[in-house]
Amino acid sequence: VKKISIGLLGLGTVGSGVVKIIENHQDKLMHQVGCPVEVKRILVNDLEKERNVEVDATKLTKNVEEILHDPEIDVVIEVMGGIEETRDYVLTALRNNKHVVTANKDLMALYGSELLTVASESNCDLFYEASVAGGIPILRGLVEGLSSDRITKMMGIVNGTTNFILTKMSKEGRAYDNVLAEAQELGYAESDPTADVEGLDAARKMTILSTLGFSMKIDLDDVRVKGISSVTEEDLRYSKQLGYTMKLIGYAHRDGEEVEVSVQPTLLADTHPLAAVNDEYNAVYVYGEAVGETMFYGPGAGSLPTATAVVSDLVGVMKNMRLGVNGKSAVAPQFPKQLKNEDK
Ligand code: NDP
Ligand code: HSE
Repeated sequence: VKKISIGLLGLGTVGSGVVKIIENHQDKLMHQVGCPVEVKRILVNDLEKERNVEVDATKLTKNVEEILHDPEIDVVIEVMGGIEETRDYVLTALRNNKHVVTANKDLMALYGSELLTVASESNCDLFYEASVAGGIPILRGLVEGLSSDRITKMMGIVNGTTNFILTKMSKEGRAYDNVLAEAQELGYAESDPTADVEGLDAARKMTILSTLGFSMKIDLDDVRVKGISSVTEEDLRYSKQLGYTMKLIGYAHRDGEEVEVSVQPTLLADTHPLAAVNDEYNAVYVYGEAVGETMFYGPGAGSLPTATAVVSDLVGVMKNMRLGVNGKSAVAPQFPKQLKNEDK
């Protein structure tokens, strides 16, 4: 039986979780795809850094060419973050006929259309479930589970760091900076947490969600964004006294061809289901014309939850390899070819 070889770009919070799941769930992976899976090479910045997962040091490299041009590597898993350099790596991997799994919402929100087109031209899969809401299978929920419905509204908590901060400030009276530092230590925050606290991370996720949910190309620039950096402990105390909970809410609404997408701190009545979503947890409420109300809930950030989504995407790639349908899978989350109104 052929072995599947992985090239891993990044061995930080998510990358180390990916290595752990591939090692610890090898029997489950074998059962699902019928062959062993091995992480062959790992791209890092610092070869000497102490890692929180055991890896054979000879697998580590600072030279991405050793992964992108290795004919034995079948799948590239991109969990290094970044945009322009990462886009080049992903494009090269796809053009070299390697399937790609990524957790990178920054990349997909900006270049998703281009990358998915190149993937399809190369008969390669490009899967990105972990890019939105960490361990919650929300993208497949939208494009598979709700594929027959017309979705008109989505509303959610899609950033773990800011939900962690608001929860701890509100319930434990802790200071903003102190909780942000803990979120960074726990691996929830981006390497530069500005994107989290200013709402950009959530806006990128809402761009992906609304593009898939509404089957319309939505641009990041069209999303109205306000973060939580100016929210004070006093704001949270007063809202609590009045029976409200403050959450950073991503909102997307479609009315015919008109779409509105925003991210902003929002006061929810304490009885609202999203008000009970605490810490790094995420939840996405989806309204479909036929199904009515649905809600997806789970850990939105962190090593193993995010890695679960990444490795499940890997299983999807390997199942497609077995069937010979990579790049053509009917249930792959594809960005629509049809662009917005003005592009028609
Ligand atoms: P980390 O900062 O923890 O890890 C990044 C890894 O990539 C590190 O191992 C780093 O190497 C390596 N790396 C970064 N840039 C380069 C480069 N230019 N060349 C070589 N190696 C590089 O990030 P996370 O694991 O937290 O996040 C990774 C991706 O997953 C991001 O796109 C993030 O948005 C996304 N994501 C993260 C989630 C989370 O909960 N953390 C959840 C969902 C998605 P070294 O270790 O040597 O410094
Ligand atoms: N920084 C992100 C968050 C990671 O806090 O939600 C998960 O995408």
